Amino acid sequence: MERRKNLAEDEISSPRLAESSGMEIIMRVVIQENYDKMSKWAADYIAAKIKEHKEERPFVLGLATGSSPIGVYNELVKKYEAGEVSFKNVVTFNMDEYLGLPREHDQSYWYFMHHYLFDHVDIPAENVNILNGMCEDPEEECAQYEAKIAAIGGIDLFLGGIGQDGHIAFNEPYTSLTSRTGVRVLTTDTRIVNSRFFDNDVNKTPEKALSVGVATVTDAREVLLVINGHNKAAALAATVEGPVSAKVTCSALQLHKDAIIACDEPACGELKVDTYKYFLDIEKGERL
Ligand code: GLP
Repeated sequence: MERRKNLAEDEISSPRLAESSGMEIIMRVVIQENYDKMSKWAADYIAAKIKEHKEERPFVLGLATGSSPIGVYNELVKKYEAGEVSFKNVVTFNMDEYLGLPREHDQSYWYFMHHYLFDHVDIPAENVNILNGMCEDPEEECAQYEAKIAAIGGIDLFLGGIGQDGHIAFNEPYTSLTSRTGVRVLTTDTRIVNSRFFDNDVNKTPEKALSVGVATVTDAREVLLVINGHNKAAALAATVEGPVSAKVTCSALQLHKDAIIACDEPACGELKVDTYKYFLDIEKGERL
């Protein structure tokens, strides 16, 4: 705490700058009162990063599906409509896709992303990358995805959510923290949770997915997770306070030097009181 108080506010505008100041790097946990405020905070952060990217190469944004980031996408669309951000120089890579689901299926992640974001902003269609759940050769599809990310120079900012068991993308418990894009077998728990999108029928819920690996996410220059709701409280606590463990693949973020968790109050329900107070204290003030 002291180390931040010793510096002027404008000197601590980002963790990257903090590193150059010789300060200790910590995972940021930005606690917001509710889902709407969390979503707005995350959208403001993403838009600011896109705007401050002045290089000729595109800004490379990793994106996630699930109910958690919907509020972020709604806010980004509002910002685009208000002329506050453009996606013309943004290239996106999505985290995952169900294996065997065509993009036209209303539960495919391709469909989700177009419905909530891409159809409403100025991103060129060729800048959108989503794993093809209907590909003939999943291994090849995944290898090419990794190669494409590498060829463009890596991901600048990866937005993610978290599963109730602490998984990131579809990297279920015990997936190696060094994993790369590949085929994933979904746990029964995840299929039960996701069956709400498939007529509440676990048998209709896909058994496999294509997913970026944990290391694909942690390779990004920055990672931003949005975590909300009581049902994520145990996963959030394990991610922030728990040991770094493949049991909770999100915990790999503890090894990242630019990781941010934006969360709402209910998701903090299982944090230790001193952890909760610590992050509230160091994040107070108006900084993105
Ligand atoms: C799926 C996705 C994850 C997502 C998780 C949580 O498992 N592959 O990327 O984080 O669902 O989804 P929700 O935000 O709906 O709780």
